[in-house]
Amino acid sequence: MTDHVSITRQDNGVVLVRMTRLDKKNALTGAMYDTMRGVIENAGAEGTRAVVFAGGPGVFTSGNDIADFVQRSAGGAKTSPAGDFIKALGTVEVPMIAAVDGLAIGVGTTMMLHMDLAYASPNALFRMPFVDLGLVPEAASSLIFPRLAGIKKATEYIMLAEPFGAKEAAEIGLVNQVVAPEELEAKALAAAAKLAAKPPIALAHTRRLLRKGSDEVRARMDEEGALFAELLKGDEAKAAFMAFMTRK
Ligand code: COA
Repeated sequence: MTDHVSITRQDNGVVLVRMTRLDKKNALTGAMYDTMRGVIENAGAEGTRAVVFAGGPGVFTSGNDIADFVQRSAGGAKTSPAGDFIKALGTVEVPMIAAVDGLAIGVGTTMMLHMDLAYASPNALFRMPFVDLGLVPEAASSLIFPRLAGIKKATEYIMLAEPFGAKEAAEIGLVNQVVAPEELEAKALAAAAKLAAKPPIALAHTRRLLRKGSDEVRARMDEEGALFAELLKGDEAKAAFMAFMTRK
């Protein structure tokens, strides 16, 4: 458990998961990943019918905590809370919805690929700086982004690490709709409430059918994860992390 993720359960089975480490732009620690994973993995047992992920004003998340990357780079652990969370995104059955206001870096962008629905405010800024950090993409983004946006656009986003906004995210289908910041969470919660009110068995089967390609997705996550873990210990990553930590 962590104070940096708040969990609000509604009577209709909708759970709002809010990242609240605003002083660090919602950089994700292991404890935050574990708490968020717990919500989606235990959804069935806890009667959760839909999960909404949100951040704070102007910041969804700045991605993995770089200090945590440094620790992992020094340690020998085979699994990581980030990797476990990402795997869960590709395996859980509960519908997930994102409400993105502001920064959505790294996993903040790649987790959109696994949301059933996503809404972004005009302030949203998506970016995947994996290569700049001496790493490879994660969450099967190397598979799904080219399919979504075409290989040339995916190359801009993933190899050049170019940022893009809400309008472009909606054009390529990464998010459903651009919604004013003051209406964003209400929009996501309303969609979650609609899903929560559907016949659950029909909805679960339909979700599985819509995600029929998920074996391929999981295999790509494993392939990416192995490379990611290897590169995390490499000199390119260490230099990039040091540059971030000492930039001020
Ligand atoms: N990991 C650890 N700390 C982070 C962080 C991250 N991913 N993102 C932001 N922070 C911290 C900063 O170090 C700073 O802490 P401090 O006040 O103790 O110095 C605080 O959050 C505010 O960030 P700051 O950089 O001052 O804000 P900004 O508005 O100028 O820039 C970002 C915001 C997100 C663009 C910038 O912080 C950034 O590039 N972060 C790294 C993003 C990243 O590479 N994530 C990994 C993706 S795989």
